[in-house]
Amino acid sequence: MPEKIKADLISLSEEARDDLARAETPEEVEALRIRYLGKKGGVSVLLRGMGGLAPEVRPEVGLVANRVRDELAEAIKARTEELAARKARGPAVDVTLPGRRRRLGASHLITRTIDEITAIFTRMGFNVAEGPEIELDYYNFEALNFPKDHPTRDMQDTLYVSDRVVLRTHTSPMQVRTMERQRPPVWVIVPGKTYRRDSDVTHTPMFHQIEGLVVDRDITFGDLKGVLISFVRQFFSPDTAVRFRPSFFPFTEPSAEVDIGCVICGGRGCRTCGQTGWLEILGSGMVDPEVYKFVNYDPDEVTGFAFGMGIERIAMLKYGIDDIRLFFENNLRFLKQF
Ligand code: DAH
Repeated sequence: MPEKIKADLISLSEEARDDLARAETPEEVEALRIRYLGKKGGVSVLLRGMGGLAPEVRPEVGLVANRVRDELAEAIKARTEELAARKARGPAVDVTLPGRRRRLGASHLITRTIDEITAIFTRMGFNVAEGPEIELDYYNFEALNFPKDHPTRDMQDTLYVSDRVVLRTHTSPMQVRTMERQRPPVWVIVPGKTYRRDSDVTHTPMFHQIEGLVVDRDITFGDLKGVLISFVRQFFSPDTAVRFRPSFFPFTEPSAEVDIGCVICGGRGCRTCGQTGWLEILGSGMVDPEVYKFVNYDPDEVTGFAFGMGIERIAMLKYGIDDIRLFFENNLRFLKQF
């Protein structure tokens, strides 16, 4: 009889430990405590059976019963602490889950185009400079030989900050600023933002230009042609047709606009090129000696050429984009295509 109670106590203890190991919440552990150690719990019920035992065996059975109770209480405490620690650690990390992909940013097409153009010219020996977007009338117009109140200023729809200050309408003022700062030889390109009061499918109030300026001894129109033809062939393709067409700018004499064979129709004539087969991509010319007067260069010593082009325009032609505003809407579905 005492052997039976002892055996029952031990199997009860084993059963309780198995249950405890499966308990996943404090509530489940508490329910097990009540089931095994409570007043109506398993251990108590078994001990009540001790009443029928001979007095001399009771201490022996009592010893086992106490041990089982203490061990169970200990196990319950341990499990409770373990669950609390697990909760404090937070949810388990599933190391088999695939990682979250981080989206990498990329340069905007305008930035990329500027970088590409800049790289072509730096390979030819040009340096890169940048200048202020809020510019004095003096640099934007006057020192570039735009006479005051002269109709040539109407070529640009100027945004005025005050009488003497404008948002630069082109990057050309950096020609003057560069020559003020350094003596020849000058080989510089200037990328940057420019502003005009203009807005439609091919014009935005803010756009980008790249200016180029070369001044040195014996620079000729042949150098201008060589540099610009080389640029066009590198930027578009080695067999792109190029032509120089006489034009006028106040700060160059003679002046030429550069056209390339239409990238859409290959020169046959289409809507994009207005049936001419040609697309204008930049303005250029030999630096007008009048400009040298403003920077104390001696026109008998040096000559030079300059050019300026619109980045958006050139990118639209290269990538077949028909609305300039797409550059500035930041629609990722557009931007990601390039
Ligand atoms: N600044 C002119 C414009 O915005 C473009 C230009 C023409 C720049 C001739 C030049 C140049 O440097 O030589 O329309």
